[in-house]
Amino acid sequence: MKTITGFQRLKERQEPITLVTCYDFTSARIVNETSIDAILVGDSAAMVMHGYDSTINANIDMLEYHVAAVRKGAPDKFLITDMPFLAHRKSLESTMIVVEKLIKSGAQAVKLEGFDASYDHISHIVHSGVPVMGHLGLTPQSVHEFGGYTLQGKGGDAEEQLMQDAIKLQAAGCFSLVLELVPRALAKQVTESLSIPTIGIGAGKHTSGQVLVFQDLLGLNNGFKPKFLRKYLDGATLIKEALNSYSDDVKAMRFPSEEESF
Ligand code: KIV
Repeated sequence: MKTITGFQRLKERQEPITLVTCYDFTSARIVNETSIDAILVGDSAAMVMHGYDSTINANIDMLEYHVAAVRKGAPDKFLITDMPFLAHRKSLESTMIVVEKLIKSGAQAVKLEGFDASYDHISHIVHSGVPVMGHLGLTPQSVHEFGGYTLQGKGGDAEEQLMQDAIKLQAAGCFSLVLELVPRALAKQVTESLSIPTIGIGAGKHTSGQVLVFQDLLGLNNGFKPKFLRKYLDGATLIKEALNSYSDDVKAMRFPSEEESF
């Protein structure tokens, strides 16, 4: 999928949408050759690429840098990036400066977390020609408010609040909505109530699509084993085996061979 139009088309056809995060050129070239529909250059870059313990440390320069690299590697994929921590919580002017930088570095849409106080900003971004993806449920930039990475939208009031926020985000012009760590029944209800597609992570199978972090689904992130994650590769083990084979070959003088020399 190269453009935003594919999102709505897939929802209408009830065809699940696939997203994966990506942060670098080499991985993006691989993703570009897959059936994955779209790429998210998430603020999770702060954690998986830079070793911070939350997404709060992602900043504009960091995301611009990763967006530019991924854009070069994956010219055929629709590319969304995150508005970093507090970037849309200050003035409208500073919000638009960030949006401009991220779009000029190669993103086609921005994602922003939460709803409170965002309606006017979202609406202004959308009316400026930039598609916006919402993000509700566990919004990791608010980890200190939640007191951890825990299931959201539990219980009547919280369910109702999330549903209302989802409806408002759609009304503000969002083209899709990420639902993170919410009960699957609530995710189903939200998905059925909206005309825009929902993209789930830890939200069950009744969303319009799914997103996972590249390093998590490829098993590169050994310590991370949340209930919602399926690992499609034991990447860390395979890479360690390859590196050890290389090291062993060098130490035993099996590499390089005659054929590998000039
Ligand atoms: O930054 C990110 O990786 C995300 C996804 C988990 C949705 O926001």
